[in-house]
Amino acid sequence: MTTTSPFTHHFDIRSDTTYLNHGSFGITPTCVKQVRDEWTRRLEEQPMDFLCRVQTDAIHDAKQRLAEFLNTAASNLAFVDNATWAMNVIAGCFPLSTGDNVVITDHEYGAVTRVWQRTCETKATQLRTATLPTYIHDVDEILDSIFSACDDNTRLIIVSHITSATAITLPIKEICERAKREGILVCVDGPHALAQLDVDLAQLGCDFYTASCHKWLCAPLGSGFVYIAPEHHQWVQTPVLSWGLIPPTLPQTWDDEFVWVGTRNIASYLSIPAAIEFMTEIGFDTFRDYTFNLSHTARKTLLQEFSGACLVADDRQWYGTMAHVQLPDGDCESLQRTLWEKHHLEVPIIEWQEKRYVRVSSHLYNTSADLEQLVTALKVEL
Ligand SMILES: Cc1ncc(COP(=O)(O)O)c(C=O)c1O
Repeated sequence: MTTTSPFTHHFDIRSDTTYLNHGSFGITPTCVKQVRDEWTRRLEEQPMDFLCRVQTDAIHDAKQRLAEFLNTAASNLAFVDNATWAMNVIAGCFPLSTGDNVVITDHEYGAVTRVWQRTCETKATQLRTATLPTYIHDVDEILDSIFSACDDNTRLIIVSHITSATAITLPIKEICERAKREGILVCVDGPHALAQLDVDLAQLGCDFYTASCHKWLCAPLGSGFVYIAPEHHQWVQTPVLSWGLIPPTLPQTWDDEFVWVGTRNIASYLSIPAAIEFMTEIGFDTFRDYTFNLSHTARKTLLQEFSGACLVADDRQWYGTMAHVQLPDGDCESLQRTLWEKHHLEVPIIEWQEKRYVRVSSHLYNTSADLEQLVTALKVEL
């Protein structure tokens, strides 16, 4: 059992907490928070100078660094607060006509499904649900499950790169290739994929990508982006219209409209490059190996102890930093509360298709001792 991680000192975690829920809300390394705080200090010590003379170039530079990381052009990206905001940008202006439909999988994040329910209701279009296979182990089966829900009127597929409640890595490149052949656009909901996977937007071939950098990439809260492929720039609009750029400069492009959307503190956007530098220095392979080993151990141990089941094959193709394992039936909410109140463990207990699961996140600060603590607590409570 390992009780210390060589990376723990980078994180400032409350000492009474064993944190196994980076997948919901990440903990930002101290060095990245310092960069964010420095940007805030510069804003607050001279707001006029910062907002009118510094901010536009600073956004441009931060976007340039993010664009390199994602292998795309900065002109295809706009900063927004989080993945939810990004998804609302697309849903708010995506061209749909009566009779069209949008296909979403049954593993999508609940709030994302709500966004598209409202959009489809408002635009008198249909939201169809594609039911993914009950056991994930085969790319073709996943493609068939998604494309059997599509027809000639399908305009858009909404699909997670890594699903939220079930922590499954989906074959996005293959989904995009098939969608392109069938003339359907694809919007990828990607907050869990950043850092867990190489997100290469030029390679993936999706039309839209939405993400929050506060999860595995370790940027501060309030650091999301939306990616729009060049052929769609002409119809994309910000849901919050303001100056776009500081007057008298007029916004020229879709992403100019996202630079000034009212007076605000953009320190989190400007800290994304520091998060990329932090993770690059640790090494993305080091991060992925370290966290997958913990996830794999969590999965194996929880399966043994509670004779549960998993939704995915035991292969790195299908999961990464999060292990998702079935527990004996029972109330989710009270178990999660008890794990926190009695055992100081922060871990989500999730109901999925009327069964109870635990989703264990591992980041650089976690150790096998954290997993042992979880197993011991679950043995007491189940
Ligand atoms: C797959 C997925 N999409 C979207 C979101 C929403 O992210 P945010 O709350 O950062 O907007 C989450 C949050 O956990 C998620 O897991």
